[in-house]
Amino acid sequence: MPFRIEIPQVSDLQDVVNLHNALVLTRSKTPSMRGFFLMDTSVEALASRLGRNDCLFLVAKSQDLLAAYLIASKSAEHLDRLSWLVPAARQLLDERSHWHVDQIATAEPFIRKNYASALYSELAKHNQNGPISAYVATAPFNNEVSLKFHLRLGFQKVAVFESSSFLGIPHYKSVLLLKNQAHNHET
Ligand SMILES: CC(C)(COP(=O)(O)OP(=O)(O)OC[C@H]1O[C@@H](n2cnc3c(N)ncnc32)[C@H](O)[C@@H]1OP(=O)(O)O)[C@@H](O)C(=O)NCCC(=O)NCCS
Repeated sequence: MPFRIEIPQVSDLQDVVNLHNALVLTRSKTPSMRGFFLMDTSVEALASRLGRNDCLFLVAKSQDLLAAYLIASKSAEHLDRLSWLVPAARQLLDERSHWHVDQIATAEPFIRKNYASALYSELAKHNQNGPISAYVATAPFNNEVSLKFHLRLGFQKVAVFESSSFLGIPHYKSVLLLKNQAHNHET
């Protein structure tokens, strides 16, 4: 299916909110089959990510329908609270070319058709193939879909985040995944 990737207009944001909020864990009927987010977003929250140098917001559209979106920022949160599986990965997150993917999702009719992979390819062009990171929840809810998706793209688990209570979720765990495209042998 032909599609294009672009920076969203403000008029696209409600569609992104609808896609995102339908995937919030408490609302999703089959999170393990589909992947999930932990909390809602809003048009205002998304609008604040537009037009910034430290943020990249991309949408993939097929015949003017929102198929997928990605939001990345220049810094990953919680780095000082991580248990590192690959300590050498820590310094890559400080590289100027590093992007951290905060959110990525594909709308139901478009899943498993490479839309999310295409958004990552576009992001790689924006960061001169530098390091890309993303958190994926592993407990008490395991986002296996997202984990499989990222591992297929060549990401590796480099650290673990653990919290007794995170966004109201007890005994929360996630993994930090990293793809070091330019120097894969270093991680
Ligand atoms: C994760 C997500 C963005 C992937 O989007 P997508 O456009 O379907 O991904 P692509 O088509 O580019 O890649 C598909 C690959 O991802 C993996 N994958 C995607 N869905 C999967 C599923 N239900 N079960 C197992 N693997 C899956 C597979 O490796 C698949 O390749 P295959 O179809 O050849 O087996 C999408 O499932 C999604 O929107 N999930 C809900 C939101 C979410 O979890 N976001 C990430 C938060 S960390």
